[in-house]
Amino acid sequence: NEHLVGRDFLSLKNFSADDIKQFLWTAKDLKTRMKDNGEIFQPLKGKTAALIFQKRSTRTRLSTELGIAKLGGHACFLGPDDIHLGVNESVKDTSRVLAGMADVILARVYDHENILDMANEANIPVINGLSDLLHPLQILADFMTLQEYFNYVRGVKIAWIGDGNNILHSLMYGCAKLGIDLNIATPAGYEPNPEITTEAMNIAGKSGASFNIGHDPVKAAYRADAIITDTWVSMGQEEEKQKRLKDFSGFQINRKMLKEAGGSWVFLHCLPRKQEEVTDDIFYGEESLVWAEAENRMWTVMAVMLHQLMPYTPTIPMPKY
Ligand code: CP
Ligand code: NVA
Repeated sequence: NEHLVGRDFLSLKNFSADDIKQFLWTAKDLKTRMKDNGEIFQPLKGKTAALIFQKRSTRTRLSTELGIAKLGGHACFLGPDDIHLGVNESVKDTSRVLAGMADVILARVYDHENILDMANEANIPVINGLSDLLHPLQILADFMTLQEYFNYVRGVKIAWIGDGNNILHSLMYGCAKLGIDLNIATPAGYEPNPEITTEAMNIAGKSGASFNIGHDPVKAAYRADAIITDTWVSMGQEEEKQKRLKDFSGFQINRKMLKEAGGSWVFLHCLPRKQEEVTDDIFYGEESLVWAEAENRMWTVMAVMLHQLMPYTPTIPMPKY
């Protein structure tokens, strides 16, 4: 896996199925060694990460800061009020300065172009910590969580019921790469980005994943093993809230909907969560994997940073994906 050293982590589109499995395998290896076996493992001693956030975050910030610290490194967090970026310094200038001091950059931005520009300018690896278009780190954590529950991921039928947003876009790339079946239901007018849809469909054609995209939540949930949703109002869309709540009516994940769909399922949500999109009894219920999913954000981003900074061979046998 030397070829992962120095690579940007901007989109799952840029990685092969084997690369994605490598990240998942390493994440599970680190969790086994450090959490289950209590091992102190500090291969990133002396390494530093610069974290640039234009938006709020609980999980992405925490997982990266604590994750690199666990591996022996150090992170510096810069929020929107701390940094000149976008106010009186260009992305180009900031990126070059960060690259001079840090070993890796993680950035959370509005405009996806910003993260592409950063990656272009910085001669150190850049991680996408969520843009308006994509959130690839989240999908690594989702796949790790599904693998831990089902003992495999290819073969788990996933249903996405909700907005055609950044999380869905990365889920589409991830499923397409790994050959995972995905049924999508969004309200009319909230479909996923058409270019990403075409690309993901093409990749799915090669891996054998079956993709269905429509507007009927019960149909999408039919015989699904995993139901996934996200907020109806993403960061930056606050002004559209009233219209969105109206347009998403009928898309709430609740027992009635899932009873109609039949079968047994687990529930995933990247968080932060609102009650509109999923009822409490499901979100806090026994089918919910959301807390394991949140924790796995840490092991997965640790795996990404580790591979960006050095070759690494896991000590546990490769799980089935
Ligand atoms: N899921 C996720 O990215 O959460 P944060 O916005 O808290 O980082
Ligand atoms: N779609 C949400 C995800 C938050 C982790 C947003 O972009 O706000």
